[in-house]
Amino acid sequence: MNTLQPYLEQNKEKYLNELLELLRIPSISADEKYAADVNRAALFVKEQLLNAGVDKAEICETNGYPVVYAEKFLDAKLPTVLVYGHYDVQPADPLDLWTSPPFEPVVKDGNIYARGACDDKGQMYMHVKAFEMMVKNNVLPCNVKFMIEGEEEVGSVNLEAFAEANREKLKADVMLISDTSMIANDVPSITTGLRGLAYLEVEVTGPNLDLHSGVYGGAVANPINILCDMISSLHDADRRITIPGFYDDVDDVSKEERDMMASAPFSLDDYKADLGINEELGEKNFSTLERVSIRPTLDVNGIWGGYIGQGAKTVLPSKAHAKISMRLVPNQKNEKIMQLFEAHFKKIAPPYVKVKVMPHHGGEAAVTPTTSVAYKAASKAMEQTFGKTPIPLRTGGSIPLVTMFEEVLGIKSVLFGFGLDSDAIHSPNEKFGLFNYYKGIETIPWFYKYFTEMSVGN
Ligand code: BES
Ligand code: MN
Ligand code: MN
Repeated sequence: MNTLQPYLEQNKEKYLNELLELLRIPSISADEKYAADVNRAALFVKEQLLNAGVDKAEICETNGYPVVYAEKFLDAKLPTVLVYGHYDVQPADPLDLWTSPPFEPVVKDGNIYARGACDDKGQMYMHVKAFEMMVKNNVLPCNVKFMIEGEEEVGSVNLEAFAEANREKLKADVMLISDTSMIANDVPSITTGLRGLAYLEVEVTGPNLDLHSGVYGGAVANPINILCDMISSLHDADRRITIPGFYDDVDDVSKEERDMMASAPFSLDDYKADLGINEELGEKNFSTLERVSIRPTLDVNGIWGGYIGQGAKTVLPSKAHAKISMRLVPNQKNEKIMQLFEAHFKKIAPPYVKVKVMPHHGGEAAVTPTTSVAYKAASKAMEQTFGKTPIPLRTGGSIPLVTMFEEVLGIKSVLFGFGLDSDAIHSPNEKFGLFNYYKGIETIPWFYKYFTEMSVGN
């Protein structure tokens, strides 16, 4: 694999320009206005996989956006790596907070700025280029499959059916995913757990029409005021969630794992300074790192109702709305949590309002093994290129596919992320470091080498 380094040096500019081309496609899966662009991104990925040297690549239709599937087969005796990534991105708004337009990538101060630069186009494309390097230099050691989807940011709702319909096609020894972050560029880490998600929307209705807030205010319940009361009652003074049964299935985390988390390099002062906050806030008796990884949460993601236009309008609105997400931990089931939420929210609704609860998407939490051959290969690969053993650490984001694939296909994952938490994914001015992009391309072939050696040797 050492022979690949000069090859990478020679191709750096080309590899960067190709990624920039992909980043120019506004493949926002949540907004149907961009449907043609999402499909165009799928085609781009397919073409680039063909250029990189796969035997075949195809656009697989689903009930939503297509999955790009590709493979290169060497020998049935060799292991097979299934690479997963996504070509869809989050909406870019609020647009006025971007320093440069989200779909006109800019390379500045060692970073690529664009929506999707890190999540996940940049990280997914590292795999295409690492594969290309191995093929062009005749050092690809095992079979490879790619499954690149276009609906990750909207909950991967059609992927379970895709997995069930394509069991043979997707057979693999491990799923390799770069869609998470590391602690720092000089502190490599491997993600060993993700949280699940239950996402829903609520509507609170008061009077059957908007009212003059002077004529009626004081005598008729204002649904925005009531919604705020209801939402604030969902946490107690210890910042624990008050929904009955919410914590029933939460797995305890071993003292060893908690001790290891406590020893991970983390500065609360830097954390607060980076975010511009004076104090952190979270569940009593847990550290910041624990609160964002091994503990479940409830957050309002959006809230609206009444008058939000220019100037002032005196109105007592008929309706109030909120989008609410709960991050879940292993053993909590998103469907059960949605039901618990719905029952509780309806129960706490006072008689002067009506409440509707509408589920959006969900996904289960994941824990990935640290004792597997694949984890050891990933760890050795990072050690090789970073000069340090990566730290195993759970994180707070969600990738619903990880547990779904383990349940449906029996394939376990390695979360081989090269981004940073400071890359502002889902936020304005998302970025991905050039260091991270090239380091990923450099490290991935070592994973293939060690994974194949260790698997065949077994
Ligand atoms: N790549 C992220 C998940 C992630 C980010 C995991 C950082 C760990 C560290 C993924 O694209 C994502 O944003 N997932 C969504 C869930 C999905 C169901 C919409 C999320 O976590 O909000
Ligand atoms: Mn992602
Ligand atoms: Mn994302």
